[in-house]
Amino acid sequence: MTTPTIELKPSSHPLSGAEREAILASPGFGRHFTDHMVTIKWTEGRGWHDAQLVPYAPLSIDPANMTLHYAIEIFEGLKAFRRPDGSVATFRPEANAERFQRSARRLAMPELPVETFVEACDALVRADMAWVPAHGGESSLYLRPFMIATEVGLGVRPANEYLFIVIASPAGAYFPGGVKPVSIWLSEDRVRAVPGGMGDAKTGGNYAASLLAQAEAAEKGCDQVAYLDAVEHKWVEELGGMNLYFVYGDKIVTPELTGSLLAGITRDSLLQLAQDLGYKSEEGRVSIDQWREDTKNGTLTEVFACGTAAVITPVGLVKSAGGDWKQSGGQPGEVTLRLRKALLDIQTGRSQDIHGWTHEL
Ligand code: PLP
Ligand code: COI
Repeated sequence: MTTPTIELKPSSHPLSGAEREAILASPGFGRHFTDHMVTIKWTEGRGWHDAQLVPYAPLSIDPANMTLHYAIEIFEGLKAFRRPDGSVATFRPEANAERFQRSARRLAMPELPVETFVEACDALVRADMAWVPAHGGESSLYLRPFMIATEVGLGVRPANEYLFIVIASPAGAYFPGGVKPVSIWLSEDRVRAVPGGMGDAKTGGNYAASLLAQAEAAEKGCDQVAYLDAVEHKWVEELGGMNLYFVYGDKIVTPELTGSLLAGITRDSLLQLAQDLGYKSEEGRVSIDQWREDTKNGTLTEVFACGTAAVITPVGLVKSAGGDWKQSGGQPGEVTLRLRKALLDIQTGRSQDIHGWTHEL
């Protein structure tokens, strides 16, 4: 398959430097978007074509567009970080590209070549370099590559036309409290994904499926929902947009990839990074009873959530039908904070990247 070259069309209405700086001073998460976007089309029989870097602008969509009716959508999330010398690097973009291909296969969508995915992200970051927040804080430029079907029609089948887009948004902390511990509602009845379903694909439908449980958690005063497996309603899987880690002294354990949870790139990086720091790390099964009991008997010392948007966020409180408990005294734990710093130091170029995870632009 030929890889289209990305053609540049300068932005017609970029924000002024002063407007941009005002946004970068307090970006929030996913509220502001940069001046450009990359678009690449796919048509049956022709493959990928018309790769363009164009001004960020609304799309015009036919009301009978297949995506609007059947949620034929996949997406990714990765970040570009400003380094101490002013240069910019993204974190493991090839891993996102590979997961994007796996998501595409699950939804019978065309697979974008890894190098085209990475080139599209690079082209957007280069064009909107001024939008990458300064080194030193916790802000970064969040990239959101995604793909939708663009065919018009109401028949349920794989489409014959798709559109891949990358947009970018300056991002501060995903949770307004930053590293402040979050509270979790343990959902024992509502599930996020089932065996054989789409839980390991990064597709909009999974997030739509999580909204009711998320709203119920908010009613209970919780920030996030922890989902259990859909068969036994017993094994902890993940949060709606983050993986989970359990800290047992000097060992960190994350739920194994059963097919119904997302293979997070942060999760994968931490399996390695923990070992680099002298901890043990493993994938395993953790039941809710174990979570409760091991917290009570003191062997489970910390719990944290991890993901691109959330980085590493401590869990401070768990609420469940069977009772509530504080995690790590409601404070960020030592191992959590050490891993968080080590990860951010690599991502922002403050420490040596021995695994070749950072992709310099
Ligand atoms: N789980 C879900 C459901 C997610 O949406 C995300 C976010 O991307 C993650 C886990 C963490 O994945 P990553 O570390 O690749 O961002
Ligand atoms: C990410 O971390 O990139 C995600 O896609 C999670 C989402 C909840 C923002």
